[in-house]
Amino acid sequence: MLNMLPFFFFLLTLLVGNNRICVADKTGFVRTNGTQFVLNGERVYLNGFNAYWMMTTAADTASSGRATVTTALRQASAVGMNVARIWGFNEGDYIPLQISPGNYSEDVFKGLDFVVFEAGRYKIKLIISLVNNFEDYGGKRKYVEWAGLSEPDEFYTNSGVKQFYKNHVKTMLTRKNTITGRIYKDDPTIFSWELINEPRCNDSTGSTILQNWIKEMATYVKSIDSNHLVEIGLEGFYGESKPERTVYNPGGITSLGTDFISNNQIPEIDFATIHIYPDSWLPLQSSSRTEEQDAFVDKWIGAHIEDCDSIIKKPLLITEFGKSSKFPGFSLEKRNKFFKRVYDVIYDSARTGGSCTGGVFWQLTTNRTGLLGDGYEVFMKQGPNTTARLIAEQSSKLRDLKFPPLVTHSAE
Ligand SMILES: *[C@@H]1O[C@H](CO)[C@@H](O)[C@H](O)[C@H]1NC(C)=O
Ligand SMILES: *[C@@H]1O[C@H](CO)[C@@H](O)[C@H](O)[C@H]1NC(C)=O
Ligand SMILES: *[C@@H]1O[C@H](CO)[C@@H](O)[C@H](O)[C@H]1NC(C)=O
Ligand SMILES: *[C@@H]1O[C@H](CO)[C@@H](O)[C@H](O)[C@H]1NC(C)=O
Ligand SMILES: *[C@@H]1O[C@H](CO)[C@@H](O)[C@H](O)[C@H]1NC(C)=O
Repeated sequence: MLNMLPFFFFLLTLLVGNNRICVADKTGFVRTNGTQFVLNGERVYLNGFNAYWMMTTAADTASSGRATVTTALRQASAVGMNVARIWGFNEGDYIPLQISPGNYSEDVFKGLDFVVFEAGRYKIKLIISLVNNFEDYGGKRKYVEWAGLSEPDEFYTNSGVKQFYKNHVKTMLTRKNTITGRIYKDDPTIFSWELINEPRCNDSTGSTILQNWIKEMATYVKSIDSNHLVEIGLEGFYGESKPERTVYNPGGITSLGTDFISNNQIPEIDFATIHIYPDSWLPLQSSSRTEEQDAFVDKWIGAHIEDCDSIIKKPLLITEFGKSSKFPGFSLEKRNKFFKRVYDVIYDSARTGGSCTGGVFWQLTTNRTGLLGDGYEVFMKQGPNTTARLIAEQSSKLRDLKFPPLVTHSAE
């Protein structure tokens, strides 16, 4: 589906005949048209996986980490997946990318170069997240420490810390891949940048802290890179801009400083994201009951699709959903039913031209990286009732959708 259709877009270029309209974007960057992703006039649907571990694993040459990355990409491509979401950061103690502000490990960067190169070979596009809200792999806490501060939420407000983050953004976007020779910002293998994995903050001033930070940082990304889409990294909680929507937040979670609607209305944000974790999000009582989980999943996705269709008017991508073997009552069959439920909602939206254009589960694991499993790992085991089979079916259903061509206006 991400393939070039040269003859087709040649014809469209003739038909449209307006050079401000860019039907035939031969550079291969995905754009948006309203609630749809578009490449070369074709709508793009996404079926993919998370694999946060790819950069550090590829950097671990001592234990053939690159072969592990290749295996995962090959297995993903074999079931028709076309997107992966990965970490483009590590300020932690273990195989750090950024050792201290502005001091990068060239070996770890070469690991990321390899992931980008190899994903390109397997026609899998990358959503690259630029920092973590949480402490795993460093995150906002480490940035704040670097500035001599102790309150993690100062990540979003302190000017010195914001400058550290901007420096990281610039370093990533202008990195020259040592294998392909391409600057990251010019590489169509990258689908989008994600500002931060799951931003949250304590905000007693009505969600303005994150709103301001997102606006400032998305604008900064766009000032360097006009090729790629940008998303925030949100889980999808509703906030004060539309209080009647907060009933959809799981188990009485307050907005946690975010606001799905107003955050995604920022013009520099190209598409919206949500995550789905019924096991950990719902109160114990409801989370152990399948019917309540199912009802939550349907309402949670449904509400966000409605908002993206009619208020935000941008595509919606489910960038994390998963079921962990560490929760009571887990079985592979239950996980597969959960995946199928999410996939069906995505497909129903996609086939009717709606805003929900894909899903990216948490998380793909090969046999070897499974040793570091977090309970959510999905192996591409072949067989009639496997998750791999479900994934392959979803890829093929989305690939077979047919719509009239859409144009996209070029970035400038
Ligand atoms: C960068 O980090 C490395 C590894 O800790 C260290 O050896 C090097 O001196 C640092 N460089 C700078 C400029 O801080
Ligand atoms: C958030 O607020 C709570 C309650 O006031 C406090 O306990 C917690 O330390 C705060 N966390 C951050 C990261 O500011
Ligand atoms: C992992 O590899 C071992 C040894 O090659 C094999 O016995 C096992 O079935 C594999 N597990 C999975 C989940 O693929
Ligand atoms: C696969 O699942 C179907 C429906 O749940 C069941 O009837 C069938 O026996 C399963 N097949 C295998 C090989 O487990
Ligand atoms: C989307 O595509 C339609 C049909 O090709 C076109 O008329 C419209 O201008 C496009 N809108 C945007 C925002 O690119």
